[in-house]
Amino acid sequence: MEGSFTGGDVYQKHFLSRDYLATYYSFEDGPSPETEMIKFNLECLHKTFGPGGLRGNTLIDIGSGPTIYQVLAACEAFADITLSDFTDRNREELEKWLRKEPGAHDWTSVLKFACELEGNSGGWQEKAEKLRARVKRVLKCDANLSNPLAPVVLPPADCVLTLLAMECACCSLDAYRAALRNLASLLKPGGHLVTTVTLNISSYMVGKFKFSCVSMRKEEVEQAVLDAGFDIQRLLHSPHNYSTTNAPNNGMCFIVARKRSGP
Ligand SMILES: C[S@@+](CC[C@H](N)C(=O)[O-])C[C@H]1O[C@@H](n2cnc3c(N)ncnc32)[C@H](O)[C@@H]1O
Repeated sequence: MEGSFTGGDVYQKHFLSRDYLATYYSFEDGPSPETEMIKFNLECLHKTFGPGGLRGNTLIDIGSGPTIYQVLAACEAFADITLSDFTDRNREELEKWLRKEPGAHDWTSVLKFACELEGNSGGWQEKAEKLRARVKRVLKCDANLSNPLAPVVLPPADCVLTLLAMECACCSLDAYRAALRNLASLLKPGGHLVTTVTLNISSYMVGKFKFSCVSMRKEEVEQAVLDAGFDIQRLLHSPHNYSTTNAPNNGMCFIVARKRSGP
């Protein structure tokens, strides 16, 4: 796997945000593995951040890519949200949406679905505004650094979110385990890690470019989360995975884990 690892330089050069959004986030295009993936993640996030769920002040999303769907539930529960990604293009795409610039991705159908889950199907425009107000910064990140947001140092957060990103950022299971420890360092004791990880795939496509993933079994992901100092509170599995990947695969898992206070 190491040989074909697509590291940060490849992402910076070839990960075309618009191609990624067109392939994976054209929610209205009818049933597809991608639509099922979005629905699964939005449902899991609603269960996690909805009524009776996690609350706090600060949330950091690592490896946001050019997407905002992952913070639609959390923006009701956290007032200070940080988005972050390795590539300039993805951060520019996020800024474009935040500033309502022409050509920004249209998230309307995803916003509507998230609001339906909250029993407020008419409230999607207000939710978009709330999210825009609650995203306080968009930062460069590298999950492989001991401080993934370096040179910026943020106060320890209440929640770290990372969806579909760590398996892309890491060249091996060992690197994934180290990245989780890096993410844990961004959290207060008792803070929560919320993550979705694709299972048993080694690549996915963005436009004509192939990107590597570290192929992991569910048990390996679980063990890595425990060994990074967390207790797992929720683990949900979906059979769905990217349509552009090398089949067969084992879907993906969604995990909520609490950082232990002691060793
Ligand atoms: C498959 S995309 C996921 C994007 C988004 N989180 C989502 O759910 O659609 C993988 C993301 O990981 C980011 N990435 C790649 N290397 C990284 C690294 N070393 N640290 C943090 N993010 C990285 C890429 O730029 C890309 O945006």
